[in-house]
Amino acid sequence: MISPVLQSLAAYPFTRLNEAIAAAEARGIDVIDFGMGDPREPTPEFVRRALVESVPDRSGYPLAQGLPELREAIAAWAARRFGAELDPGREVIPTLGSKEAIYLLAQMVVSPERRSVVVPEPAYPVYERGALFAGAEVAIAPLREEDGFLPRLDAIPDDAAIVWVNYPNNPTGALAPLSFYEELAALARERGFVLASDEAYTELWFTEPPASALQLADRRNVIVFNTLSKRSSMTGYRSGFAAGDPELVSAMKAFRPTVGVAPQEFVQRAAIAAWNDEVHVEQTRERYRAKREILLDVFGRRGVRVVASDATMYLWIAVDEPSESFATRLLERGVAVAPGAYFGAAGEGYARLALVPTLDDCRRAAAILDEAL
Ligand SMILES: Cc1ncc(COP(=O)(O)O)c(C=O)c1O
Repeated sequence: MISPVLQSLAAYPFTRLNEAIAAAEARGIDVIDFGMGDPREPTPEFVRRALVESVPDRSGYPLAQGLPELREAIAAWAARRFGAELDPGREVIPTLGSKEAIYLLAQMVVSPERRSVVVPEPAYPVYERGALFAGAEVAIAPLREEDGFLPRLDAIPDDAAIVWVNYPNNPTGALAPLSFYEELAALARERGFVLASDEAYTELWFTEPPASALQLADRRNVIVFNTLSKRSSMTGYRSGFAAGDPELVSAMKAFRPTVGVAPQEFVQRAAIAAWNDEVHVEQTRERYRAKREILLDVFGRRGVRVVASDATMYLWIAVDEPSESFATRLLERGVAVAPGAYFGAAGEGYARLALVPTLDDCRRAAAILDEAL
């Protein structure tokens, strides 16, 4: 009765982590949770207000292409942030968060001639799951520390439909230079695959603002996904966008009404307020920076190697025992971290901490780590 693809998938790894945390709490352990990357920062007040003020008497079906005002706000943001000139009518489409759009891309481009989807590892699991449900062949591109966690471009199969990249990278926090996007986009045009760039974390950086595939002079075959979830602490609003090659954006406009994933218009209006403001983003970065410093400090003292971790809300640390046993050991002391193995076999040997607990809890966790490591 149930699809073999669904049956073959293991439980979403974080479901397992959350169960382990609940079990530890039931045993009386007070857990500080660095597991899932769901910001616990409040959504800025002006964004909440914009949402409330936009709820109309009657809310009809939203259109797949989204509100023109939101597309314009996104294009204006991309121009300010990346110097990218996007045509809001042809090159931008709002999405219901970015996860669904990431998941659905394979449905639109995989074909009998182009059956492979290249996904990085370790990685956010949705690229692979979207490929599997579209009946595609998954080709794993391992991200290795010695390569700066960039994939090797010589292993892309001839029948590749999509090559997924994600920088700033979850879980490693690694960055990609613009030259990487240039090289990969040239290859995409030459070989006819789609370069899909998931840029959910471009706004959470600590040294220099990360590059974007939107900065490419030639965006043919390129589609970029970004979101307000982390930038503006709006995971629950479900608000993101896709931008890039007009042919792909137009395919999304044709495909998405079938699925019913147009964002609610009152959410789109709140999104306009969020994209138009940078002050709250700078404050958000400051908060993550303060938490990051506390943990970098304790890891430095205890000789734990923090790897990459130049951006995103994550720290990626090297562990010298199986990552699940490391995570279990810390959970018993009251600190939950995600084992690297949760992000695929290439994540083994590492663990990820999402900087989501409060500053005070980060300080408490640092004191625990000081003893436990
Ligand atoms: C790498 C990456 N991409 C995309 C997303 C999706 O975020 P959203 O659907 O909230 O926009 C996440 C969420 O955690 C993520 O980590």
